[in-house]
Amino acid sequence: MRERIVAGNWKMNLNKLSIKNFINDFPSLVADIKEVKNIIFPPYVYLYLFQEQDEIHYGGQNIYYEENGAFTSEISSGMLRDMGCKYVIVGHSERRHIFGEKNDLLNKKLQSALDNNLIPVFCIGETLKERKANRQFNVLETQLKEGLNGIKNIEKIIFAYEPVWAIGTGETATPEIAEGAHKFIREELNKLFSNAGENITILYGGSVKPQNTGSLIKMKNIDGFLVGGASLQPESFSEITRLSRED
Ligand code: PGA
Repeated sequence: MRERIVAGNWKMNLNKLSIKNFINDFPSLVADIKEVKNIIFPPYVYLYLFQEQDEIHYGGQNIYYEENGAFTSEISSGMLRDMGCKYVIVGHSERRHIFGEKNDLLNKKLQSALDNNLIPVFCIGETLKERKANRQFNVLETQLKEGLNGIKNIEKIIFAYEPVWAIGTGETATPEIAEGAHKFIREELNKLFSNAGENITILYGGSVKPQNTGSLIKMKNIDGFLVGGASLQPESFSEITRLSRED
């Protein structure tokens, strides 16, 4: 059975006080929702606030693949484990496009996460230019093939389809566009890993808010969401979680 997940990527947002308030307020808003798992990805420096509580699953927004060494400002998988993380985002489009992370680097990060028992949320998605050129499926295929090269246990990975043109822009993929991409990703995973795709959770990300959650979650191949902006307030994030309960 695929797990239903609504994750919040906080990026470089919030501060100590607002995060303390979130940790205080959020659990009671979703206490009755058992069938959806929430995971929060706060900025690294606030991970300790999550380590002090046991109601919210949490993880890091990135890792470097080496275990330790002279890599100023980087954080390893082992360090995230040390802070109680069970999850890590790998290949977010902001890492790919602002910081130039390529598929071969992301492949090493995925392997490092899995070697350290972290569950990666592996993000893939095309840019507007690529979609306009009708290259979205080629792009997804390459991101999957190169990113997953040599990886054995893909059933441990959560996938996130995040079309770059829909992230932080207010423009969401229509349910049909998102479903088309999710279906393609699942079929690719089936091809690459002998039908393993059927049991894999594939999240949609890109301007998800309470207003569009219902129509997206109805789609057969959408198993939950990776939410940026609307995950910053307990009210909207809990609302998205509530609306994600049923197909
Ligand atoms: P957004 O971000 O919901 O603010 O568009 C999504 C993401 O980047 O994961």
